[in-house]
Amino acid sequence: MPDEIVLFRVEEGIGTITINRPKALNALNVEVLKALGKILDQARKDDSAKVLIITGSGEKAFVAGADISEMSRMTPIQAKEFSRLGQGVFRGIEELPKPVIAAVNGFALGGGCELAISCDYILASDQAMFGQPEVNLGIFPGFGGTQRLVKHLGKLRAKELVFFGNRIPAKRALELGLANEVVEPGKLMDRARELAKKLMEKGLVAIGLCKQAIERGSDSALDQGLLLEQTLWSLGFDTADQKEGMAAFLEKRKPDFQGK
Ligand code: COA
Repeated sequence: MPDEIVLFRVEEGIGTITINRPKALNALNVEVLKALGKILDQARKDDSAKVLIITGSGEKAFVAGADISEMSRMTPIQAKEFSRLGQGVFRGIEELPKPVIAAVNGFALGGGCELAISCDYILASDQAMFGQPEVNLGIFPGFGGTQRLVKHLGKLRAKELVFFGNRIPAKRALELGLANEVVEPGKLMDRARELAKKLMEKGLVAIGLCKQAIERGSDSALDQGLLLEQTLWSLGFDTADQKEGMAAFLEKRKPDFQGK
């Protein structure tokens, strides 16, 4: 593995982002979060990266949480800034107009679980472990977990996860709605790429607009969300993909989307 703390490689339209700090189980310190933020900006601008996969380096961990050693020395002001940094980077994933798949290869604890639930699809190895163990350290989730977990799981389940701080095996995470799919560890990255390729056969501009309608709309009142849907939906009619998709249907052939 190269030395960079977060790796980014684009191959066949798939941008793979790897958190690369395996000795600390890919724990998120300020350096990792800043590097991840920069790479997400790069991925946003890079037209060759159509779908993104986020994973962790090594066999053991996706991300084992925020860096405890760094946090142990923080003042409240530094902690607030750290939370703002993590929240901002994860919000950036939701605001990216490209689908992002979390390929959870191991521990997804604390900030790792919060990172996964900021992605659009959670694919987990059956060795993966999810959880929000922050209360064991005398703190609670601060990278968006208190807000996103409620949306994903409902209030009761979110409180169960956060108050007890238990580790949740991948199969249980699937039942709870914390993962979309669980696969054998050896098949994780192949399956992630297969999903990315399936997405690339679709109208990706439409997926980007739809992501915005879902992310922004779900935070607003129904009428505002519906208006947002109308606006973004109609914008899709100005794309080559819409013309191609409908023409292909009418001509009884497979569409050849260009992502424009
Ligand atoms: N922050 C900083 N370092 C971490 C870390 C974290 N969140 N999680 C793991 N590490 C480091 C360990 O300190 C250890 O470093 P060392 O080799 O220099 O001692 C290394 O990663 C390997 O971890 P270790 O605990 O020895 O591995 P394990 O297989 O015995 O246990 C975990 C794995 C994930 C169960 C355990 O590391 C753990 O509980 N991590 C913290 C999880 C957590 O509370 N996350 C939320 C933080 S808010």
